[in-house]
Amino acid sequence: MPEGIALKVTELDVHYKDFQALWGVSLQVLDKEIVSVIGANGAGKSTLLNTISGILKPTRGTIELFGERIEGLPPHETVPRGVTLVPEGRRIFPRLTVFENLFMGSYVPRTRAKRNETLLKIYDLFPVLKARQDQMGTTLSGGEQQMLALGRALMSDPRIILCDEISLGLAPLVIKSIYRQLARINGDGVTIVLVEQDVKRSLKASTRAYIMLEGKVVLEGNHSSLDEEQVKKAYFGI
Ligand SMILES: Nc1ncnc2c1ncn2[C@@H]1O[C@H](COP(=O)(O)OP(=O)(O)OP(=O)(O)O)[C@@H](O)[C@H]1O
Ligand SMILES: [Mg+2]
Repeated sequence: MPEGIALKVTELDVHYKDFQALWGVSLQVLDKEIVSVIGANGAGKSTLLNTISGILKPTRGTIELFGERIEGLPPHETVPRGVTLVPEGRRIFPRLTVFENLFMGSYVPRTRAKRNETLLKIYDLFPVLKARQDQMGTTLSGGEQQMLALGRALMSDPRIILCDEISLGLAPLVIKSIYRQLARINGDGVTIVLVEQDVKRSLKASTRAYIMLEGKVVLEGNHSSLDEEQVKKAYFGI
């Protein structure tokens, strides 16, 4: 695999029992790129991210992370290799404080030594998490919980983060602030895959985008090559 490719997904099929959710999905993400995967409800976006992170196993196809095959490996083996999911719906651990939630993100032995340093970086990105570090995670507002989910992912010192609908249900100002921090995280060398339903925002934030429809990639391009009308048509399958 040529140098500079962070993630390469080739001809991926994923089934939930008899139901096929992904059909020959292929995509490529360059090191330090921000790539969007856009699609309507049920297009297969979460299935794709969950398969990359190892929550689901593909029935066909390969996934390469910096040249190493990872398809079928469970999350506790993909996370140490540098890929971390920020899951849809945030999945904050109940009964744990903000600090403990963050701490849970650094269970990978490689990252333990750097734990305090990483924590300071996250508190610098999201000062509100520091201010509320002793509060139960689930008492945070929606936007703060999203910051916590992102911070927890960063605690594993990832080379690539997969963000599943990070802006869902949040106020425009909060979304703006989270996207600003994502740009900083990317500036620090972290590759980002953004799954979004918001076409405009994700096109703006990313270098390239893939549009999914009914389990397939139907369109691919960069900001300037994709016009919004074309994307909308692919998005709705019209
Ligand atoms: N656990 C499951 N069992 C059976 N089918 C599932 C399961 N999870 C998802 N699916 C189906 O797989 C397809 C893709 O779902 P997926 O959650 O990946 O879509 P999505 O693009 O993330 O949608 P959304 O934008 O609503 O989150 C859908 O048709 C969904 O009903
Ligand atoms: Mg989803």
